[in-house]
Parts: sequence; structure tokens; C-alpha cells
Amino acid sequence: MKNPFKFGTIVEDEFFTDRVEELKLVRRVLDGENHLILISPRRFGKSSLIMKAVHEIGRPYLWLNMQRIIDVPDFAAKLLKETLRIYPWEKLKHLMSHFRMVPLVSMNPLTNGMDVSFQPAMSSDVLLEDVMRLLERVSTERRKLIVVFDEFQEVHSIGKGLDKQLRALMQEQKNLNYIIMGSQESMMTEIFERKKSPFYHFGRLMHLQRIPHDDFYKYIKERMAPHSADVDVVVSEILSVTQCHPYYTQQLASQVWELLTYEQQTDNVVETAINQLTREHDLDFERLWVSFNQTDKRILLELVEGKNPMQMRQRASSTQYSALKRMMQMGYVIRNEQYEVEDPFFKYWIRKNVL
Ligand SMILES: Nc1ncnc2c1ncn2[C@@H]1O[C@H](COP(=O)(O)OP(=O)(O)OP(=O)(O)O)[C@@H](O)[C@H]1O
Ligand SMILES: [Mg+2]
Repeated sequence: MKNPFKFGTIVEDEFFTDRVEELKLVRRVLDGENHLILISPRRFGKSSLIMKAVHEIGRPYLWLNMQRIIDVPDFAAKLLKETLRIYPWEKLKHLMSHFRMVPLVSMNPLTNGMDVSFQPAMSSDVLLEDVMRLLERVSTERRKLIVVFDEFQEVHSIGKGLDKQLRALMQEQKNLNYIIMGSQESMMTEIFERKKSPFYHFGRLMHLQRIPHDDFYKYIKERMAPHSADVDVVVSEILSVTQCHPYYTQQLASQVWELLTYEQQTDNVVETAINQLTREHDLDFERLWVSFNQTDKRILLELVEGKNPMQMRQRASSTQYSALKRMMQMGYVIRNEQYEVEDPFFKYWIRKNVL
């Protein structure tokens, strides 16, 4: 029997739930001339949402994960490689006539795709300009190209001034939609909402939220039902632990399903699943915990104890503020209605081992 829950990769088809309104909004933006900026904490379902949207829309799309890019020439080469993957060579050959630098394109028999490289001496500005112009040339009004930049907050580490250069090039393009995603909220907000940033007000800004409780409830219940007599209790417990975080909910539900299915366990099944998952990560959590300084630890403990963030704020020193900010940037703390430890299993581990 196949586990009906999936976590860790992009989810599609029967593993994908809800996001009805979000999909409508994405579609509306892509039907027009605008661009979309999608921000959320890690593993909230950005990539899954956008993958579903672009598949449904059925237009050609390029997808680049900025985390996997080393520098600007690599960025230009990967963009070109993706372009070669979706458009026929016959079409591209002519459109590349404006290139000031002939790229080396070769067939890779292992991947069955094309490999692209540029001669190292070439200025990276020129490479990027040529490739970005090509994107506009291949795109047609009837089948507008969609360009997805995932983990866009990496733009600063790829090349100094790359954000400025990209923005200038994008501004000139027509008949293209960009979707820009990122998970380090403070950095993404800085890129798109700071007045001085080249990407200030670049497109429609969308903050992805958790999956609504009732939808997630129904989704889990349907998949858990044949195995559990107390299905309502089980589902409620799962969601109360994960607070509807898409990734952790699927992870915990998957573990619970295994206990119910393969071990026919019925008592304290959610508790057992949490214990198992926490134990699996025991070493990582231990290492993580010792890597925090005293201020970090104190803040984490307060969050685990459910202390009111307003109380924290009143007496927060600048050290505490910057510790909180840093832990948010690193993704260990997120802000929902209030500050929270991001990982419910790490929270559980702290409660068990430190408190
Ligand atoms: N619409 C959904 N329905 C059900 N589960 C979902 C949905 N979206 C995301 N998930 C769960 O969350 C996990 C993470 O999703 P995804 O990789 O799309 O998020 P992300 O925000 O792109 O993450 P990252 O920050 O790592 O890039 C999925 O593997 C899945 O378990
Ligand atoms: Mg992603």
C-alpha cells in the first residue's frame, strides 16, 4: 500500500491540496503583463504552487534555482541551457544571431540535454545581456514565456550589482512574465520593498500562508480514515502540533499513517510518531542547540514555553532583537501571528531535553 502523504519535494496531483485562491491569483498575473513575487518561510509550498500553475497554464517556462548558481557567467549559461531545453535548436539558431560571444553548445549523451559554456575571457555583462535578449526574442505574444527564479534572495551572492543589471534588462523586455520566489523573508522583503532597491515594486507581491485548517483536515482525514477508529482525534492532534505547516504536516501524517498501517498501533499514535521523528533528528538537534549562543538559547526557550512576544519586546535589548532577527534570517524562528520556533519537532526536542 502506498503512503498517501509526501514531503520534501514538490508535490503534485493527489498530494497537492487547496491553494485554489492562490492559483487563481497566479493565473491572473500571468495572463497579463505583470510579474509575480512569491514570499514565504521555507517549505510552505511555493515551488509546488508555481509548478502546478505553470503546468495548468501550459505555456513554455524556464525554471532556475538561484541557489545552484555560482557566478554571473554560470547564470547566463544555465539560462541559455534551459532555453535550449524548451525551444528547438532550429528556431534558436537564428534568434541567437545577435550574440557577441558564440557559446559552446554540446550534446551531453548522459543527460540527453545540451551543455553550454562561454569562453572565460568574455565580460559577464555581455553574456547576460545577450541571453536575456534571447529570452524576449523566443517568447511570442500568443505563448508568452514564463521565467521562474527560485531562491532569488541568492542574487546578491551570485554577483555584485547583478540585481541592478537584471532589473535594467528585465525592464526592457516585453511579452514575458517573471515569477520570483524566495524563502528568506527579511531578505526578499528588502529586495522588493525597500525603496532604494532596484527591484522595488517590480511586480505583484504575494505572501504564501499555511494551508487553511479545514482543508488540511479534510485532506488528512480522507487518507487516514480506513485505518483509524479515532480519526478525528488523530487529525486534530496532528494539526495542532504542526499548526498547518505544509511540510511538517505531511511529514507527521506520513509517520502516523505508517504506524496505523504497518504496526496496527492505535494508542497514542501521534505521540509515538513525534517521538520517532524527534529521535531520528536527535543528533542534528543536539548539534544545532550547542551552536546557539546564550541569548539565542534563552529566546528559543521562551518561545517554546509560549511566552508572549509583546512581553519579550518590552524588555528586549538590542542584543535580543538582533538575535531574534538573525534566527529568523536563518529560518529557525518564523513569525506567524507571533514568533515561533519553525520546526515543531525541534520545539518538542527542546521541551524534552532542555526545559
Ligand atoms: N499544496 C500542498 N498540498 C499539500 N502539501 C503541500 C502543498 N504544498 C506544499 N506541501 C508540502 O510542503 C512540502 C514543501 O513544499 P515546496 O517544496 O513546494 O515548498 P517551498 O516553499 O518551495 O520550499 P523551499 O523553501 O524548500 O523551497 C512538500 O513536500 C509537501 O509535503
Ligand atoms: Mg522551493
